[in-house]
Amino acid sequence: MGKVIVCDHPLIVHKLGLIRDENTKSKMFRELVDEVAALMAFELTRNFTLQKTTVKTPVTTTECLMLSEKMPVLVPILRAGLGMVDGILKLIPTAKVGHIGLYRDPVTLQAVEYYYKMPSDSAERELIVIDPMLATGASAIAAISMLKARNCTRIRLLCLISAPEGIKALQEAHPDVDIYTAAIDEYLNDHGYIVPGLGDAGDRLFGTD
Ligand code: URA
Repeated sequence: MGKVIVCDHPLIVHKLGLIRDENTKSKMFRELVDEVAALMAFELTRNFTLQKTTVKTPVTTTECLMLSEKMPVLVPILRAGLGMVDGILKLIPTAKVGHIGLYRDPVTLQAVEYYYKMPSDSAERELIVIDPMLATGASAIAAISMLKARNCTRIRLLCLISAPEGIKALQEAHPDVDIYTAAIDEYLNDHGYIVPGLGDAGDRLFGTD
């Protein structure tokens, strides 16, 4: 079963409170989501491996430890996932970025891919799928299935807020995928919103309604 890692550093918790506030307007909302994403990237990168590298300092030659693996691919699910990309890139500037766009077919209610663009060597890299609101989990589950269908195996999911229902669904569908979230909220309401949540993440990021 995939692990759920709650990133509850006090700075993240504080900023998440401001993000939730309905009086927080788009500009501030975007900035806060960006800052929280950067702070969460610190936790996300904790498993990165290091290798010995020889470095010549102005004084002598020494062995330093430096990152060894290929950098990951960030995979925001359009459109709310975009809000967390730049914050992570501040910490991992050489990460690649792929994009997945999904819509829900009104008849079958299945997630349908309308956009898919990933680096050609994605199967050799770790992928970090970004979906700020893990509500039913349907989009994240579909996006991860699409990546696995293209031979990607090392996948983690980054969220801002998760509903217990979404975590359960994701763990059942993809037991190999760990979830990083800043909070686990109470429940999903009848309209599919996470409670207490923050409303519609995409609308609040981009000032739409
Ligand atoms: N998507 C959102 O943006 N907010 C929710 O509460 C649930 C899904």
